[in-house]
Amino acid sequence: MDDYGQFVAQVYRKTGINLADYKEAQMKRRLTSFRDREQYASFHDMLEAFNRDPTLLERFLNRITIKVSEFFRNSERWQSLQKEVLPVLASNRAHLKCWSAACSTGEEPYTLAMILKEMGIPFELLATDIDRSVLERAKTGEYGPQAVRHVPRHFREQYFIPLEDNRFRVKAELKRGIRFFQHDLLQDAYPEGCHLIVCRNVMIYFTDEAKTRIYRAFSDSLVPGGVLFVGSTEQILRPADYGLAPLAPFMYQRVSS
Ligand SMILES: C[S@@+](CC[C@H](N)C(=O)[O-])C[C@H]1O[C@@H](n2cnc3c(N)ncnc32)[C@H](O)[C@@H]1O
Repeated sequence: MDDYGQFVAQVYRKTGINLADYKEAQMKRRLTSFRDREQYASFHDMLEAFNRDPTLLERFLNRITIKVSEFFRNSERWQSLQKEVLPVLASNRAHLKCWSAACSTGEEPYTLAMILKEMGIPFELLATDIDRSVLERAKTGEYGPQAVRHVPRHFREQYFIPLEDNRFRVKAELKRGIRFFQHDLLQDAYPEGCHLIVCRNVMIYFTDEAKTRIYRAFSDSLVPGGVLFVGSTEQILRPADYGLAPLAPFMYQRVSS
């Protein structure tokens, strides 16, 4: 096995994180540039350094994927969720159990929470990511102008405190409805009984085999009639294979079983 192959195997043994489930060329490129920046001659040397420097492992985990997010990302999709999907999902249900998976720094779950509150839908919202450091930032809830540029003015006034330098902090009342915790889509048990799962802009990193497992697990996580909302480049090719049916662009409904 080459240096990189051994590294992948050892990282799995050490952290449970399976780099083999991520597309190899892309992952190798990212990690090679990380290794060079950290000035290790080989992946083997970097692995040894993990034992000496726990912050290195943290920085490494932070490099696995891109973390960029923004509020109301692809805003027309959120409009469709609000106007077409949520009214049907919420009818005849006392509350909605929602899950924002791979939520990064929190823009996505906060977006969903604002919409649900505006619609007066009682909800429980889980927000998860593999990376603890982004979850800490999500809980703090401070954002720069780029992240908040698509937040409608009435939401900005209601749920954000303006700070210096065009920054904003999410108000406690919005944070209260959301439970942030660490979750690895590749190895942890999935929540049950979800009415809505939002998982966007992470599937692009995974191999086809890993995607298949994740879509299956999402489908099992949804109640019949529940909806999976994916990223705008992440159309599911054969949704029926997972017991899902297309509902709106980039949204799939779990068919009754
Ligand atoms: C580009 S961000 C997506 C943020 C948000 N969902 C959005 O669309 O704006 C990708 C996120 O996926 C997370 N991620 C990568 N691998 C993961 C895994 N195996 N399980 C859970 N989250 C993962 C990363 O830590 C990162 O925060």
